[in-house]
Amino acid sequence: MKRARKLKILIVDDESNNISIMVEVLMGRYEIIAALSGEIALELALQEPQPDLILLDVMMPKMDGFQVCKTLKADKKTASIPVIFVTAMDEVEDEEKGFALGAVDYITKPVSPPIVKARIATHLAMSQQQRSCEERVERQMKELVDGQKEAVYMLAKAGHFNDIGTGVHAWRMAEYSKALAKAAGWPLLGQNLILLAASLHDTGKIGVPVRMQMKVKANNEDEVHLMRKHTVYGYNVLSTATTPLFKMASEIALWHHEKWSGGGYPNDLKGEKIPEAARIVTIADVFDVLTVRRGAKVWSVERAMEFVKNNNGHFEPRLVDHFLSIEPEIMQIKEKWAHREKDVFLD
Ligand SMILES: [Fe+2]
Ligand SMILES: [Fe+2]
Repeated sequence: MKRARKLKILIVDDESNNISIMVEVLMGRYEIIAALSGEIALELALQEPQPDLILLDVMMPKMDGFQVCKTLKADKKTASIPVIFVTAMDEVEDEEKGFALGAVDYITKPVSPPIVKARIATHLAMSQQQRSCEERVERQMKELVDGQKEAVYMLAKAGHFNDIGTGVHAWRMAEYSKALAKAAGWPLLGQNLILLAASLHDTGKIGVPVRMQMKVKANNEDEVHLMRKHTVYGYNVLSTATTPLFKMASEIALWHHEKWSGGGYPNDLKGEKIPEAARIVTIADVFDVLTVRRGAKVWSVERAMEFVKNNNGHFEPRLVDHFLSIEPEIMQIKEKWAHREKDVFLD
């Protein structure tokens, strides 16, 4: 088992005598490091492992304790280290200033060893407890986010359960969608949402009869109608949720077969009436279907890119330009998934 490290205390004082007194009081219990100036203290505060507590003299030449404290609290990397001021001054004003800057306590010189020991032990215990609390909350948040991702994967898998031969289509086209969203200037949060939401575009296929899903092409009007229903079914399932992720996913599911110039389904929307997320997914979806082996048919990336380029009626021209501009990235994603092409949904 890993042995817990000794807690580390940084003592900051411009007089080495004062440092020696503190070292004597605290030695043995803690790992001690010391700085004779504020500037050095700021450097030591960043060194790993970082100090668990800082004893900070107020009156120092050049950079005084208040300035040091302010700098420490302004930096995310050092803000949570508890600071105790050690000072000969006992004026209320100064104490107020120190607390306002984020110090947790004051100790006055000359120091009393039992008080120093007790105060330090108390503040260390408090900050350790707070840290473990924060870590627990962080862990729980991560579990929630992971749980949401897992739910998306399961839903995507369920949607494709009977959709024989699609392999890793949903995951690969989702990555194409994210890359295209990035190229179109989407912020990172949006990119991460579309990565999950795009994989759910065909969730509604769960409601399409299995015999239909076995077919590459519909044979008559009825079959076409049946196949097209997957957009509405997907929307009906996904729109029951209210989070931004599922709102996006439901819009993608409903409108990923619409066309920029009209003539798509299920609503025959045009242009910007189609949400941008759905416009992005339309390109990623079609491109992926064209470049994946279905029976004997498979297109080269060049040919599929050419197809995307010449189909502005189907796709938004601006997004087509972005898609063409990220061809190397698209190739990388395609290669990354190539060795996983075996049907991941049914193994
Ligand atoms: Fe679809
Ligand atoms: Fe698809």
